[in-house]
Amino acid sequence: MNSKTLAIVGFCGLCAMFIYGCKKDTQPVDNCASIVVSLNATNTIPCETASGTITVNATGSNGFTYSNNGGTYQSGNVFSGLASGNYTINVKDANGCTKSGTITITNAAQGVNFTNVKNIISSSCADCHLGVNTEGNVNFNDDCSIVADWNRINGCCVQPYSAGLVPMPLGMSPLTTSAQNQITAWINAGHKYSD
Ligand code: HEC
Repeated sequence: MNSKTLAIVGFCGLCAMFIYGCKKDTQPVDNCASIVVSLNATNTIPCETASGTITVNATGSNGFTYSNNGGTYQSGNVFSGLASGNYTINVKDANGCTKSGTITITNAAQGVNFTNVKNIISSSCADCHLGVNTEGNVNFNDDCSIVADWNRINGCCVQPYSAGLVPMPLGMSPLTTSAQNQITAWINAGHKYSD
């Protein structure tokens, strides 16, 4: 290559860089500002395996992937199995533009049937299963221990009593029919904290 050719090649190279550069700058490569993220959450139920969900809806660009609390970006826009708490969701489009949003997963409210059972326990079982009293290694101090023991509460307190279980409250009259019916109603509703 002689010096003249070199000069032309060099000039054209610069030219191309200039044009390419200009083109790149003026192209509507991406508009991060146009991305809109909206989040929807469903709650989780205390004393059960975490079941909250977040559904992400992103618009204004394409090729979205989604990340939950700084985790790996995934193609699916639904996060599930989440405990109660605050979450930051990041959305990234095909060009690497990101946008984030925050949302809270709440605990489901205490159900009416469960509240009834709790009240029965605090009035009829407190002497032996509440506070420091843990007869038979059973204590109902927290909501989850009541939920976990639903089957034994049924077996001990609702007639006919289950074979092998000691009738409760121990040494006292059976629970009233109304109280037994309230326990049954909770069990039929699903015997969860939220039922
Ligand atoms: C006067 C004390 C007393 C009261 C009141 C009482 N319990 Fe008990 N409970 C016991 C004792 C003692 C045991 C252990 C019995 C055994 O293992 O023989 C027990 C055991 C249990 C068990 C485990 C039973 C099993 O066989 O696995 C459950 C469930 C239970 N109670 C529920 C209740 C509920 C619900 C109430 C209220 C409606 C209640 N108890 C009221 C003394 C009491």
